[in-house]
Amino acid sequence: MAELEIITISTLEEMAEALFVRRRVFIEEQSVSEEEEIDSHDADPRRVSSAVHVLGRLAGAPVGTGRLLVEYPPGHNAHVGRVAVLAAHRGRGFGRQIMLALHALARGRGFPGITLAAQTHAIPFYERLGYAVRGPVFLDAGIDHRWMDIDLRSR
Ligand code: COA
Repeated sequence: MAELEIITISTLEEMAEALFVRRRVFIEEQSVSEEEEIDSHDADPRRVSSAVHVLGRLAGAPVGTGRLLVEYPPGHNAHVGRVAVLAAHRGRGFGRQIMLALHALARGRGFPGITLAAQTHAIPFYERLGYAVRGPVFLDAGIDHRWMDIDLRSR
């Protein structure tokens, strides 16, 4: 089976590959508007300090992505978001590998854990990784979400 290559995004070209995946998954598949989907954290990575993005490529082609928001005070969790794998490549462990790469980046920056807003259908995916749900369901971009957290110090 082909292996996923995961990189930390550092150029505008790599960012465009991640946005290609997100457009396919969130805008086309899930009908999220472009205005809601793409924000200031997605600008030229050489100028953005608020986020770190990862890109997963299969045989050189982009298939998955996710981002870590890092502008939080010491002792607070980093936030993960925009985790996406192209539909044709799901169920092969790629989403999990992207999450583990984001965990490693958070650890490397000294964050104690990660918080994310999980689409409710994806809760089992995050639970498999060790996240626990917190609080009630809420709507974001017209989609049901719940907060989830993981303590990275205990694993
Ligand atoms: N329900 C239950 N379990 C799920 C699941 C789901 N919807 N999606 C994944 N899992 C489980 C897998 O069975 C696997 O379990 P295992 O470790 O026992 O084998 C584990 O989670 C890892 O799955 P993986 O193959 O790495 O996930 P994936 O590559 O299919 O990616 C998503 C998962 C959520 C990123 C992908 O489905 C996706 O892009 N969805 C659309 C975008 C989205 O909703 N993103 C999340 C926003 S919060």
